Amino acid sequence: MKNKNVKVGLVGLGRVGQQHAENIAYRIPNCELTAICSIETQEIKECQRKMHVPFTYTNYDEMLTNKSLDAIFIASPSRFHCTHIQKALHHGFHVFSEKPLGLYMEEAIEIEKVVKSYPYRVFMIGFMRRYDHSYAVAKQKIDQGDIGEPVMIRCYGLDPAGRIDNFLEFARKNYSGGLFIDMSIHDLDLARWFLGAEAKEVWAIGGSYARTEFKDINDAETGTAMIRFENNRMGIFVAGRNCAHGYHVETEIMGTEGSIRIGTTPSRDHTMLMQDNSVVNECYTGFLERFEEAYLKEVEEFINCILEARQPGVTVRDGIESLRLGYACKQSFETGKLITL
Ligand code: NAI
Repeated sequence: MKNKNVKVGLVGLGRVGQQHAENIAYRIPNCELTAICSIETQEIKECQRKMHVPFTYTNYDEMLTNKSLDAIFIASPSRFHCTHIQKALHHGFHVFSEKPLGLYMEEAIEIEKVVKSYPYRVFMIGFMRRYDHSYAVAKQKIDQGDIGEPVMIRCYGLDPAGRIDNFLEFARKNYSGGLFIDMSIHDLDLARWFLGAEAKEVWAIGGSYARTEFKDINDAETGTAMIRFENNRMGIFVAGRNCAHGYHVETEIMGTEGSIRIGTTPSRDHTMLMQDNSVVNECYTGFLERFEEAYLKEVEEFINCILEARQPGVTVRDGIESLRLGYACKQSFETGKLITL
């Protein structure tokens, strides 16, 4: 596809979909936001008004009949991902899908077969943290042996308490898959990437503490998983929806000869406010702010893969394995049992 703009159709114009829309429309060379689709007409109107998108749809299947498109970008709720991926590939498009690959292992395994049957279509899953500068530097340092053998990873993924009502609304529609599949999945992907190992045993616990509604929907407000990986490597994963100070994503990788920490203090900038016996760094308010650059870079990589006829480093297998792990955490949390993979 040299010397041609990639024409993208985007489904889902919610929190993350709007960010992708802006990136595709304004910030990435060689691509155009040609079509948008959402079941919310107000979202379509708003996006159309701001970005002058030529085609709009409230029905996904109709968007797929648009012959001017090259690629489909999926930012619909997680329970639609597998269906939307499969249909887009069958219609001959390159596909980017937000995480997770699906909500159930069976559908994800089927999707892997479908993706593999279209080797000339680019497929990418939205594990954007791999495209964040700090995480990419950490990976490079681990690969060149700076911390010796990586043996343990400790991850925090905490959503701000201020978004808890918004999240509960999302979760009640069976949109999320639960804390571990929706939230921890980024950390589970990073753990596999950094440790270079698959999980063997999973034990997860959690509960509802500030808000009892999480219990009513069989989900955890805050949860922890402890995972044994191949070669006795270890992982501790803390996830939560009620972080009082804001959005806090922190990662530590411990090796035989050193450690790497990313995001230990989740400061949104380098400013420090000193007054009234306090020293304050303001915290990130959400994922869009913390990972702004990563959302841009991952889309840029997807477009470049199409233009250069190659596949990205993050694959459908990464989607499957992280889902397998998220699902095992969910099972362990629900049954109270150690899960062997
Ligand atoms: P949201 O609820 O804010 O937006 C969902 C969008 O999908 C809305 O525009 C809605 O109208 C549309 N939609 C729903 N059903 C549809 C259908 N059948 N056909 C077409 N459009 C439909 O959700 P949010 O938070 O934007 O999440 C969307 C996806 O992105 C989820 O899978 C989530 O896991 C993922 N996500 C990824 C993030 C990341 O950091 N990579 C961050 C946030 C979300």
